[in-house]
Amino acid sequence: MRTPQFLLCVSFFSLFAMAQTPSSLNLMPMPTRVQIGTGQLVVDQSFTAVSTGQKDARLDSGIPRFLDQISRQTGMQLNGQPADASNATFIIRAENAGRKVQELDEDESYTLEITTSRATLTAPNALGALHGLQTFLQLIEPTPAGFAVPAITIQDQPRFPWRGLLIDVSRHFIPIEVLERNLDGMAAVKMNVLHWHLSDDEGFRVESKRFSKLHQSGSEGQYYTQAEIRDFLAYARDRGIRVVPEFDMPGHSRSWLAAYPELASLPGPYRAGRIANADTVMDPTRDQTYKFLDKFIGEMAALFPDAYFHIGGDEVNNKPWDSNPKIQEFIRAHGMKNNRDLQAYFNQRLQKIVSKHGKIMVGWDEVLHPDLPKTVVVESWRGQDSLAQAAKQGYRSLLSYGYYLDLIWPAARHYAVDPMTTTGGAPALTAEEQKRILGGEACMWAEYVTPETIDSRLWPRVAAIAERLWSPQETRDNKSMYRRLDELSWRLRWLGLNHESNYVSMLHRLAGTDDIAALRILADVVEPTKDYTRTEVFPKPPVKRTPLNRLVDAARPESTVARQFAELVDTYVQSDYKDAAAEAQIRASLVKWRDNDANLQPVLDRSFILAEDKPLSQDLAALAAAGLQALDSIDKNQPLPDAWRTEQLAVVDRSMKPRANLLVMVAPPIQRLIEAAAASHQGAKP
Ligand code: ACM
Repeated sequence: MRTPQFLLCVSFFSLFAMAQTPSSLNLMPMPTRVQIGTGQLVVDQSFTAVSTGQKDARLDSGIPRFLDQISRQTGMQLNGQPADASNATFIIRAENAGRKVQELDEDESYTLEITTSRATLTAPNALGALHGLQTFLQLIEPTPAGFAVPAITIQDQPRFPWRGLLIDVSRHFIPIEVLERNLDGMAAVKMNVLHWHLSDDEGFRVESKRFSKLHQSGSEGQYYTQAEIRDFLAYARDRGIRVVPEFDMPGHSRSWLAAYPELASLPGPYRAGRIANADTVMDPTRDQTYKFLDKFIGEMAALFPDAYFHIGGDEVNNKPWDSNPKIQEFIRAHGMKNNRDLQAYFNQRLQKIVSKHGKIMVGWDEVLHPDLPKTVVVESWRGQDSLAQAAKQGYRSLLSYGYYLDLIWPAARHYAVDPMTTTGGAPALTAEEQKRILGGEACMWAEYVTPETIDSRLWPRVAAIAERLWSPQETRDNKSMYRRLDELSWRLRWLGLNHESNYVSMLHRLAGTDDIAALRILADVVEPTKDYTRTEVFPKPPVKRTPLNRLVDAARPESTVARQFAELVDTYVQSDYKDAAAEAQIRASLVKWRDNDANLQPVLDRSFILAEDKPLSQDLAALAAAGLQALDSIDKNQPLPDAWRTEQLAVVDRSMKPRANLLVMVAPPIQRLIEAAAASHQGAKP
């Protein structure tokens, strides 16, 4: 029975709900259309959900998984399913049957309507329904009246049909269970393609029954059996995710050549793994190569049901072709101009094989060549222009340039990259050409990730790319994105992602003690070096087995503490140095950082892995001290001498250059304070 007290609560919360705006909701990606209603639907232990539409195995498993997820998110066991649908709290209806193999052009839209008494989710098929369930999960919040979702109507659909994530499992093998929890993360942010980079120089990761030496010689025992792959593909399908395999060729193929040197352009022997000799490429001039690939692709095409098949095609090292006279003779004899034409010849023959086995070929942008049929999908990674150029020439295309998560960029930098933005020399596209841009893929190349660290290199940043590919183009406010990203990040823990928990574990291991307070203060403000500037300085090779257990591996790709500190300094500067609350917070941080070094040095002294981080801790203290001096100078309007400024900026400079492969990310905002203090010396605040 509803008590008067309860009714009072409801009306109070109606007011609260009315004050909400779509951008204050913790939804990521942001839906296409959101209309906030009045009141809320309580999600308590009596909450039930049933499917009343087309039967679909993905909903048969997806709805219980959704209810389990509610239990995990709320810590509350639910009572169970209702006897009949009319009593259910949540009615889910997929109007049509889905396709047997998930396809690129399926309608992924859904409509979610939540009133104070009931929720309804309708979708053309199970894919949209699965997306709607994820939206519902993100709406659940604790409120004074219990866990609840707001009364709301959401109509949602993706901007692009291909919203992918590439995971490289060759450089470091990533076990199935790690991939599975990341598929759960992908589903949570409505990504729908796993691009599985299964072979490269370093390792060949799939069991081949026809050519068993591939996985036997090319993987050091680290590969997926075909049975494991089938289970994994079913897991992905259940979550509305297509899996596109990539077997990179003719370059990036040393692991194949270790097993079958007869495929190579130069005599072997070859060895898989991270070794210096990368001059390995298949021989495109021999019919034997294509006979092999026909059988191999036939086997893999049967194993992977998706319509698309990625053949790589990137970064072909031309040296072996140049130094093999027979190959150069073949080029001349066939009227080709150069190695590029030879690769196009290879791709043409490969495309026929891929097509014969019922698949559509995808390749990196190096494959773009007038001789290639227009059915090929081109994935742009070297620059955005090739995306538009491919579309202009009639090819469908995908954007990965700008979405490389291994470059350790901040989320905002990825978020700013839009597949529809024509850059530089790219031509403007007609509506017809624009339709050829299918979407994009975030890429997680695995030179510097392990099963332990991969979650932290993916999450939460990949969600910003997921939003770019799902939400309307106008959804581009960084502040809103970061607010929602921070909220999403802790929620992802309930999917088993360890991007946050492994940070603490790794700091403990580095310090070798329970007391990581001082180490954490330093770790919280550093980031791994950007782009491809990471170098292994410690310990010495063998590179293949270099432990990824240093502070650079524990550190967050994007420091939330540094970002928030920079925002605070911005607020303070914008207030013309008058915002006392902001200044007080800035001071508190600076004092903490200044005093941390004395506490941290004994910890750094104790651990051989941490010794390399001593200068970083010292510089953090020096920066903080400079920041405090700057604040005092600004407050008192007492200028600081130029010599002081020069001295402090040297510390800033040093802090933003990689040491131990780390950057001290609070250096730039502290630099602003230093400059302000020095400008006051010149008689005017900047
Ligand atoms: C690539 O990054 N070589 C596709």
